[in-house]
Amino acid sequence: MNVVLLGPPGAGKGTQGDLLSERCGVPKYATGDILREAVRRGTRLGREAQRYMEQGELVPDEVVLGLVREALASGEAQDGFILDGFPRTVAQAEGLEALLEARGTALDAVVFFSVPEDELVQRLSSRRVCGDCGAVYSVGSDGRRDVGSRCPACGAKLELRDDDRPETVRVRLRVYREKTEALLGWYGRHEEMLRELDAVGTVEEVQKKLLNLLDCT
Ligand code: AP5
Repeated sequence: MNVVLLGPPGAGKGTQGDLLSERCGVPKYATGDILREAVRRGTRLGREAQRYMEQGELVPDEVVLGLVREALASGEAQDGFILDGFPRTVAQAEGLEALLEARGTALDAVVFFSVPEDELVQRLSSRRVCGDCGAVYSVGSDGRRDVGSRCPACGAKLELRDDDRPETVRVRLRVYREKTEALLGWYGRHEEMLRELDAVGTVEEVQKKLLNLLDCT
């Protein structure tokens, strides 16, 4: 299973990608997570990416393509992979296609997470991330658990992600409309590749719909 999870910020790609990865036993690569880790470690890549991420803008295509090339080259992606938050531009999609072609493989599905904008803003303002283990929670709205100010998994403090501040969320949504939405047309050219997921509902409800969509029951 070679799958891309596509959709606006806050649509639930990361949440569902983790569940899908666990359920199907294929690795998930999230370019946002890889970049945040590089920022946290203060590497050269992290320092370069940080100024784009803080503004809610996209990191240059060649940088993220390099990250994905590296991730897919690892042996663990041999029997399938889930890409979360990549590609985000037509140039990235073209780069991915070339990369997969060179490996003699191709995508099986691109899942578009459809969520109304007011719900996205609400989800992003309620998201809290553990500053230590990186676990993602929602302040009382995904119906799964009640979360206070400490990580239920490791006890560290929960934080608002830097780019989840309302002014940066507005930029990220604009960037999504201007640069990423075009991928719906791009992938729509391939019959049956693009599958729309109604990603509203509880996490469990959305997971069920996703598994059905991918014939992964
Ligand atoms: P990235 O980390 O990829 O951010 P994003 O795409 O904006 O996606 P999010 O992580 O915000 O949302 P999500 O869809 O994963 O939702 P989640 O599951 O967390 O990118 C960050 C930055 O990195 C970019 O702005 C850019 O600068 C850079 N970058 C990354 N990739 C790049 C690329 N390819 N090219 C260039 N630059 C790149 O859910 C959100 C919240 O909702 C959580 O609190 C969750 O608990 C909750 N939730 C989940 N499901 C539900 C539900 N069903 N009901 C209610 N709440 C729910």
